[in-house]
Amino acid sequence: MSSQDPSFQILVLHGPNLNLLGQREPNVYGSLTLTEINKRIEAQARTLQVKVSCFQSNHEGALVDAIQEAWGQYQGLLINPAAYTHTSVAMRDAIAAVKLPTVEVHLSNIHQREAFRHHSYIAPIALGQISGFGYYSYILGLQALVEHLRESKTPSPST
Ligand code: DQA
Repeated sequence: MSSQDPSFQILVLHGPNLNLLGQREPNVYGSLTLTEINKRIEAQARTLQVKVSCFQSNHEGALVDAIQEAWGQYQGLLINPAAYTHTSVAMRDAIAAVKLPTVEVHLSNIHQREAFRHHSYIAPIALGQISGFGYYSYILGLQALVEHLRESKTPSPST
């Protein structure tokens, strides 16, 4: 990146029960706490020269508010909607409304798990979904999002 590139601001949202990471089903979700995962996301953001703000909530409305408030403040959204992936029309509508380029991530591979986890309300309006790489899903998601933002800013070569 050149020094003239903008420093993108990215909102990282974690959905319900992710505050319990480290203790919660470590065989499924790994042993890192959410604080440790956020530190790794922040380290990757420094490497990529972007800014991240991380927020977790167990409440659908608080997550909808955070998405709405991101409008005009952030250029991209990295989100693990957790259980709301499979239930929340409200979060999907909020993301569609603010039109923020969004990458959906999951620690576990939701497609290998119970059938009710196979459907995502968010995936059809996301740039893409990364699922199954533990905390590294967030790192891959951040890289993909930043690459997308930089590509979208790159003027097409004149012909
Ligand atoms: C999850 C997968 C969801 O199905 C589940 O409800 C979660 C976490 C994941 O990161 O693997 O809470 O989003």
